Amino acid sequence: MTVAPLAPYPATRLRRLRQADWSRRLVRESVLTPADLIWSMVVHEGEGRIPVASMPGVERLSVDDCVKAAVEARDLGIPAIAIFPYIDGARKDAAGSMAADPNGVICRAVRAMKDAAPEVGIMCDVALDPFTDHGHDGIIENGDIANDPTIERLVEQALVQTRAGCDILAPSDMMDGRIGIIRAALESEGFQNTLIMSYAAKYASAFYGPYRDAIGSGKLGTLGPSDKKTYQQDPANSDEALREVALDIAEGADMVMVKPGMPYLDIVQRVVQEFSMPTFAFQVSGEYAMIMAAAQNGWIDEQRAILESLGAFKRAGCAGVITYFAPRAARMLGA
Ligand code: PBG
Repeated sequence: MTVAPLAPYPATRLRRLRQADWSRRLVRESVLTPADLIWSMVVHEGEGRIPVASMPGVERLSVDDCVKAAVEARDLGIPAIAIFPYIDGARKDAAGSMAADPNGVICRAVRAMKDAAPEVGIMCDVALDPFTDHGHDGIIENGDIANDPTIERLVEQALVQTRAGCDILAPSDMMDGRIGIIRAALESEGFQNTLIMSYAAKYASAFYGPYRDAIGSGKLGTLGPSDKKTYQQDPANSDEALREVALDIAEGADMVMVKPGMPYLDIVQRVVQEFSMPTFAFQVSGEYAMIMAAAQNGWIDEQRAILESLGAFKRAGCAGVITYFAPRAARMLGA
């Protein structure tokens, strides 16, 4: 898009349109509403709410509290919830076997939330890391994450989640080829309407730190590499993100995601412009923690920073944003 030739000052004074609230609202280019939010939520296997130290305001919820949250989401006009599990360390293993347990905490939470608030879309992460004792998103062979054996487990996990009522599968593992294989498995089981939002451009980022705390992730490096750089993308790359997105769309993704969010808005904008697909960004745990830490020190205005950060995703062209701030933002937006 080109900018029209502007009459020189003083004929053009850009401040004229900024002079009042009514004129600013009239020419506003993007708007954030509760319908843009996907509420990121952690469920645990026990009772009660457990605060996450590195994410002030975020708690691990019991299945019962997830149900209450789903009803709250509906009442706030939040269209969807993305749910992540905290699994007791004793039940993790190297293969992430619990990922495909039809009675695991994710499946139980999905069934209960869909019963109580069927109007709210439920999104499940397809990845093994909450279930592996080594913390990697896949099965380890010869010291690295084995792509194709991992996909076999992801397909089982995806089908179990879908049978429990999951509306959106969100593979976050970054294995090559998994979208097409999951899509084929869904079709062959008659699940034509299950949506896939692929974590298409997911970077090997430091900003996931608090999440690993929130879900009690295994410590990387005990078995396999000490980081996720052989499957998650190099933060220095941009063209590579377009290749990742192109492949996932060609394999049957309905929506694509860029993750993390704010440090990668350039990627969001390129993906939106290149593909015109519903594109989402994940405002990840570290982004949440930074805003909260600064706010709690009195260094930034918490409410304004939350809404400004979320609005940035809309300005960049996102259809919506996955965020731990969803219920608070929805309330601030006057839901
Ligand atoms: C797991 C997964 C991660 C997040 C979502 N799914 C962590 C990782 O890839 O290491 C991060 C979410 C957040 O930081 O809020 N595959």
